[in-house]
Amino acid sequence: MTARLRIAIMISGTGSNMLAIHDACRSGRLAADIVGVLTDKPQAPGLAKARDRGLHVEAIPVQAGEDRRAHGDRLLAALKILQPQVVVLAGYIRILSDEFVNALADRLLNIHPSLLPKYKGLHTHRRVLEAGDTLHGATVHYVTPDLDCGPCVLQARLKVQPGETEDTLVARIHRAEHVIYPTVLAWLAAGRLQCIGSVPMLDGQQLKAPIVQDFE
Ligand code: GRF
Repeated sequence: MTARLRIAIMISGTGSNMLAIHDACRSGRLAADIVGVLTDKPQAPGLAKARDRGLHVEAIPVQAGEDRRAHGDRLLAALKILQPQVVVLAGYIRILSDEFVNALADRLLNIHPSLLPKYKGLHTHRRVLEAGDTLHGATVHYVTPDLDCGPCVLQARLKVQPGETEDTLVARIHRAEHVIYPTVLAWLAAGRLQCIGSVPMLDGQQLKAPIVQDFE
């Protein structure tokens, strides 16, 4: 039997993606264990939820005068002890240092609430509505030093409905995210997905474009 995938999760907020990943681990859909949950925000609601589930949690806030690199080094030191095979950003709000990203090259994943390469950065739902787009979604991608630019693995795509608001989009996108993040991690755990030199391979084929899954 192959060993279970060791996952560390980094959050700053509500942690609903973290819970979805944990649910998938508990149900057996994902052959993985969450070895730790790290946050920069000790008051993040997701941290209490992780604690309630008995997960190992660590709050590593930025200290006064600490720069991005020094904070990243402390995060890396914590991860070194946890020994994850993959580090999952799930609503982690802070931009990470290049050194942090490079130290975890090909092992660092993020979920971004847009159909990348569209709408990198913040306020994606508002920008989609303002632009009058008919499609929106979320993307699981490997992280590289350029923000929201790493190679994409899986996208959830949904139609923007008449009368849609930011709030309705947040809810619909979250529901889709809770499916696609565990899916990508299950591919990793099963040895179906690898990333070598920032080139993702699924079932032995180079992923030149993300897989797209449609959602209601
Ligand atoms: C998600 O929408 C994700 O795409 C973005 O941050 C949000 C995190 O939500 N990066 P949650 O904390 O997992 O509920």
